[in-house]
Amino acid sequence: MANRNFLLFTLIIALASYQSQAKFELGLCQAVESKIPDPILNVTNLMGIWFEYLVTPDLKENTTYSCASWLMMQENKNDSRFVTIYNRFDPNTNQSSLKTFEMNCEPTQYITNTAVCYYQQDTPNNIYESYTSHRARSLRIIYTDYFSYLIARVCQSYGLYHYIDYIVLTRDKTPSIYHRKQIKEKLTAYGLSGQDFDKGLSKKCWGEDFWS
Ligand SMILES: *[C@@H]1O[C@H](CO)[C@@H](O)[C@H](O)[C@H]1NC(C)=O
Ligand SMILES: *[C@@H]1O[C@H](CO)[C@@H](O)[C@H](O)[C@H]1NC(C)=O
Ligand SMILES: *[C@@H]1O[C@H](CO)[C@@H](O)[C@H](O)[C@H]1NC(C)=O
Ligand SMILES: *[C@@H]1O[C@H](CO)[C@@H](O)[C@H](O)[C@H]1NC(C)=O
Repeated sequence: MANRNFLLFTLIIALASYQSQAKFELGLCQAVESKIPDPILNVTNLMGIWFEYLVTPDLKENTTYSCASWLMMQENKNDSRFVTIYNRFDPNTNQSSLKTFEMNCEPTQYITNTAVCYYQQDTPNNIYESYTSHRARSLRIIYTDYFSYLIARVCQSYGLYHYIDYIVLTRDKTPSIYHRKQIKEKLTAYGLSGQDFDKGLSKKCWGEDFWS
């Protein structure tokens, strides 16, 4: 019975994807070439606040927020599981929405040596959601220097299919030209350009970065 439901869900997803032309591909979530293999990921250095600078539109699903921040907080320095407070803001309605979820960056050598963290932004309310909208996502870190920006591929697997998104988190609300140039070069190497991303209205959300 569970299997039959699962196949049905997969079919629904396949049809939904076909209609919305979301970026989905056959098979399981794949490895990605990374400069940050698992053994050298320093989870402690990821802690603190990050701002969502670029995201591929599908990652936003149906939400209309413009900006989001990710506050990562480790209880103990050696923990590879930690709490993230995710805050997104829509300046058109002045609505802020907060979520707390766990990120699990425990080292795994199973499929890939890319540093990978798993997270689930929402707790599934039922079996349908646990197979579809609320499935756990993997965040594969393509590059980070920990103190300026982080580029990751986010993948959500639906059995026979998976969705691929990309996200760029920055420490600054408005990253410097120098870092933007580096980000652009790195994304180009992965075949990505500005057109692939949504960029939030960071100034509208967070305000100008100076005293007036
Ligand atoms: C992570 O980096 C910090 C600061 O550079 C260092 O103190 C710490 O020992 C590192 N942790 C590991 C597990 O290497
Ligand atoms: C997005 O919106 C469409 C149409 O309103 C709906 O069918 C779909 O389930 C929504 N997707 C998510 C992930 O909420
Ligand atoms: C934390 O990790 C470091 C580096 O791997 C290790 O030397 C140290 O013993 C660990 N501390 C604890 C309390 O596990
Ligand atoms: C949102 O807040 C700003 C600043 O307080 C205000 O100028 C604007 O009118 C508000 N917008 C809405 C839709 O409430």
